[in-house]
Amino acid sequence: MDEVLTACSQCGGLLDVAYDWDRTPPPASLREFEQKWTRRWDPLCLSGVWRFRELLPFARPEQIVTIGEGQTLLQVADQVARFVGLDQGRLHLQYEGLNPSGSFKDNGMSAAFTHARGIGAKRAACASTGNTSASLALYCSVTQLAKAIVFIGSGKISFGKLSQALDYGALTVQIAGDFDDAMLRVQQVARELGIYLVNSVNPFRLEGQKTIMYRVLEALRWEVPDWIVVPGGNLGNSSAFGKAFAELRELGLIDRVPRLAVINAAGANTLFELFERRGLRWNKGQFAEPVIDDYYNQLTATERRAATIASAIEINRPVNLTKCLRALDICDGVVREVSDQEILDAKAQVGAGGLGCEPASAASVAGAKLLRSQGVIAPDERVVCILTGHQLKDPDATVAYHTTDQAKFNEVLGKRGVKRAAYANRAVPVSNDLDEIVKAIRLYS
Ligand code: F0G
Repeated sequence: MDEVLTACSQCGGLLDVAYDWDRTPPPASLREFEQKWTRRWDPLCLSGVWRFRELLPFARPEQIVTIGEGQTLLQVADQVARFVGLDQGRLHLQYEGLNPSGSFKDNGMSAAFTHARGIGAKRAACASTGNTSASLALYCSVTQLAKAIVFIGSGKISFGKLSQALDYGALTVQIAGDFDDAMLRVQQVARELGIYLVNSVNPFRLEGQKTIMYRVLEALRWEVPDWIVVPGGNLGNSSAFGKAFAELRELGLIDRVPRLAVINAAGANTLFELFERRGLRWNKGQFAEPVIDDYYNQLTATERRAATIASAIEINRPVNLTKCLRALDICDGVVREVSDQEILDAKAQVGAGGLGCEPASAASVAGAKLLRSQGVIAPDERVVCILTGHQLKDPDATVAYHTTDQAKFNEVLGKRGVKRAAYANRAVPVSNDLDEIVKAIRLYS
């Protein structure tokens, strides 16, 4: 607790937060958390992370950093369920876009900041495809606890996210490379300069992200769903979810775990390739490292770079790969890849019949649809797709999808292999004339 460590000094593997539950006994039943609802005046009860603090008991209450994260909601989305092929009432969208910086990252950031405060960190850094940097920058600006330093790949970040980092006053370092390059560099720089690292290699980040699953259970009145479907990038979320369910089961707070589906973009499909095609498994922690090394060597030799419209998950070397293998083992998981076309069509459906999301988030819905069509998910199963980020994070992709301007469509989406916009909602051009406007509205509504 007193040190900044992200890897084991002997084997180099990631670290995990492990609790001595006898010292910090959790509630006997998840229902006990409901008492917190009447205490919304207390910031630790208002926070959707810290009202579950008995399940992440690494910090003393006075140490906790919160800016009201995790006040998110679980929405039943019947129109999207029709698109996915699920029965009415069976698809739920967990909307993490409602967080203060507009993505799920704030769940983990408040936990990492709590640890950072405990050790007196003065500077905090991350590499990011955009959302982690927005979240870090926000926590630094609101709490003034540390100076934010964010590493981003050049030309790879959506403007919504870049504008947040700049606006919140983060030192923004644009590397001539992609996320995988930036991730490598930030780890070296953090070590060299003693800067607190908040990427999901930081085990406390994942503790905060466990609470997304607690809120899903809470919204389902503590019933366990059949499936959790989540986009996979750096694989922090999926790893955190697996840990959350393993602990709840160990504590006797749930009697079964849901199945987990992690969805890669086809242009950034390392997990899919390793898990589904090359048979890599957790294997009680004895996973086949040569399988991973071979694949990464192949990526290097062929100079293959991640490429997807879902820029948030444009990652080829996910740092939490092995923890995610453990989560897949715990939750009898599956991995799928979906194309940019499938992602954008799903995103349009979420926008039309849900709360809206950014492209990476829609990978979860596209993945659920694929798993339904393959018969892996049954129509009457209860499915929760995690919408990880807000719709306004990446308006370029949305506008390009709905545009009537073919040149704009080709410029943003055509080069990604997106051919059509089946669910486009095109703006209607009309002259500045009352009769023409009335005529157009009569015609189209
Ligand atoms: N969805 C969104 C909107 C994200 O921003 C990310 C990750 C993911 C999904 C994937 O989550 O990494 O836990 O598997 N964004 C990181 C970032 C990498 O830098 O903002 P993961």
